Amino acid sequence: MAVVGAGPGAPDLLTMRAHQRIREAQVLVWADSLVSPAVAALAPADCARISTRSLTLEAVMEVMLEQVRAGKRVVRLHDGDPCLYGALHEQICRLSEAGVTVEVVPGVSAYQATAAALGQSLTIPGLVQTIVLTRAAGRTGTPERETLKQVAALRASLCLYLSARHVDAVQEELLLHYPADTPVAIAFRISWPDERLLLTTLGAMAATTTAHKLIRTTLYLVSPALAASPTCRSRLYAPGHTHLFRGGQGQSAAR
Ligand SMILES: C[S@@+](CC[C@H](N)C(=O)[O-])C[C@H]1O[C@@H](n2cnc3c(N)ncnc32)[C@H](O)[C@@H]1O
Repeated sequence: MAVVGAGPGAPDLLTMRAHQRIREAQVLVWADSLVSPAVAALAPADCARISTRSLTLEAVMEVMLEQVRAGKRVVRLHDGDPCLYGALHEQICRLSEAGVTVEVVPGVSAYQATAAALGQSLTIPGLVQTIVLTRAAGRTGTPERETLKQVAALRASLCLYLSARHVDAVQEELLLHYPADTPVAIAFRISWPDERLLLTTLGAMAATTTAHKLIRTTLYLVSPALAASPTCRSRLYAPGHTHLFRGGQGQSAAR
């Protein structure tokens, strides 16, 4: 069976391998509350579709194992990339205990789709070279050493998942380290037909979220990179920077 990254929503953001696995699926197990229906629609018409929206892990496992043991090609779809904020670990452990081999197919994560929609780099030489993917603690919680206060101290490009419901507290904690005018992109259902992409500042992050009534499927990019000066540039393409494939200024690249 395969666990497949469904990407952020738009079917043409699937990897070719993900697309192929979905087109060959005989059973599709998916959270229809999270994964775009446009992606699930790529499965064959006679593919059985099982929604996990209201199931426990135990029930999901029972369904998947039953179908795998019946010899079906089972595809478990996860939004974005399966390695981020999903239930990959616990499913892989149980499938492996049951002797089932699993192929994991990566997907484009929400932070990548958002940066692409903005046409922005999250790493700018001399300004920010670190990206942090994290979330507000919420009901799941985060380890004490990873509180937003702690990670904010890096002033890195911060990609915040699952945090819209807690945006007031998030803003307050981030303001302990980032300046209030730090740019923030708020992406709602990026790449879906009803996507919204808002640009604001950290000082107005909570008010903007509330004004647009964003609660679910929202990602925040908080980053000095979003206001980088055009004079910032990489060393890689600087004329004076030589490396294996390019000699000094004026020399031919073909060596
Ligand atoms: C359960 S997590 C899964 C993340 C997913 N594995 C990924 O790599 O994008 C769901 C959260 O991801 C973010 N997310 C997923 N798809 C999104 C999209 N299309 N637009 C904005 N945020 C999205 C939101 O923060 C949402 O609350």
